[in-house]
Amino acid sequence: MTKDEIVLASQEYLFPAVFHYYREPLVIARAKDQFVYDADGRPYLDFFGGILTISVGHSNERVNAAIHAQVDKLQHVSTVFVTEPQAALAKKIASLTPERRLTKSFFTNSGTEANETAILAARCYTGSSEIIALRHSYHGRSAMTMALTGQGSWRIGGAVQPGIVHAHNAYCYRCPFGLTYPACEVRCARDVEELIRTSTSGRVAGFIGEPIQGVGGFITPPKEYFAIVAEIVRKAGGIFISDEVQTAWGRTGGKWFGIEHWGVMPDVITSAKGLGNGCPIGLTVATPEVAAGVTGLTISTFGGNPVTTAAAKAVLDFIESENLLANAAETGAYLRGKLEELREKHAVIGDVRGMGLMQALELVEDRSTKAPAARATAELMEAARRNGLLVGKGGAYGNCIRISPPMNIAKSDVDEFARLLDRSLEECVSGAGN
Ligand SMILES: Cc1ncc(COP(=O)(O)O)c(C=O)c1O
Repeated sequence: MTKDEIVLASQEYLFPAVFHYYREPLVIARAKDQFVYDADGRPYLDFFGGILTISVGHSNERVNAAIHAQVDKLQHVSTVFVTEPQAALAKKIASLTPERRLTKSFFTNSGTEANETAILAARCYTGSSEIIALRHSYHGRSAMTMALTGQGSWRIGGAVQPGIVHAHNAYCYRCPFGLTYPACEVRCARDVEELIRTSTSGRVAGFIGEPIQGVGGFITPPKEYFAIVAEIVRKAGGIFISDEVQTAWGRTGGKWFGIEHWGVMPDVITSAKGLGNGCPIGLTVATPEVAAGVTGLTISTFGGNPVTTAAAKAVLDFIESENLLANAAETGAYLRGKLEELREKHAVIGDVRGMGLMQALELVEDRSTKAPAARATAELMEAARRNGLLVGKGGAYGNCIRISPPMNIAKSDVDEFARLLDRSLEECVSGAGN
């Protein structure tokens, strides 16, 4: 198919709700390492990684070798049979969880299903159905995970489910209480007690939160936030679910899981995206006690698929052998420095936040009013594309730029990224290149 035929067929035969970035859709034909190539063969430096999914580079040779070997040996059996790749991956994951306390895995196909499984486990284990989620969160696209999600634009089709309440998130740049950290004494976290008292029966099944809110625009809480919330939730009988669909596998630098930065021992961790480096996989890993609470029958046809689990094991082995947790911390700090420099230069950048190789810019029209600069953000996306750079967009106000390159990049890639972003910022502010 020609490029135009691909675009036309996509428009004609896909749901119109399958939206794409950019005024003119970008047709991607192939990718290698930190570069993707469009249908005309033009390269782009990929600092979004297919929404934080390319953790170890496009077409990673070691991961691809594991996929090729497995696909020729055994491609599918379903969870009603036992296979080596699934067992080996579950064993590996158990060895990586905080203090090796979460040792029981359930594999599915997506982050959405991983969160469905986590909520199911919380409800089975506690006997309560009430869940606390966070404003500005994103947890998936099933009916229930849309109801958990705390952003109106992602709650379509009447996403209502009784028993889910939304607490304030720790959005320090736009504090919901109009306070400033640390004088605020983390009021947003303490407010969860009042939420439970007023909006639930007082006994809850659990809390679900992202260590850094991804789709929300990499909103990063103060270090005390989750520990305070966890204590309040546990007092009300609930378990703590860490949605690490974006933050796991070293992305935040120095730790396998984002929640480890916040000093909380979760009962359940969910993940997907970077675990498969592009192979569809969802993971719910729980303590033995919580996992044992899920009684009765459950099945996933594609869950634990031999090919995807072989790929995921190769991804984890690669992250470990290449010491990418350290690289995400070190190169992430270098990236952060570059972003701070750009903030000095460009008034449109209101906030720089994130951890490791998960960094974001929040764009504003005016630094004192903090009016969201949604139009400038859209223009910046276009300018970056013209300059051969891919970044992500996010935030409830459509004014955040999300930066999440593969974790095996070098500082020289960051230098090139900063040069391209600087040029794109100049163009979008001056209107050049349009
Ligand atoms: C934090 C978080 N949870 C869950 C999901 C849903 O994952 P999936 O799109 O694989 O269903 C996402 C997707 O972006 C996510 O960012």
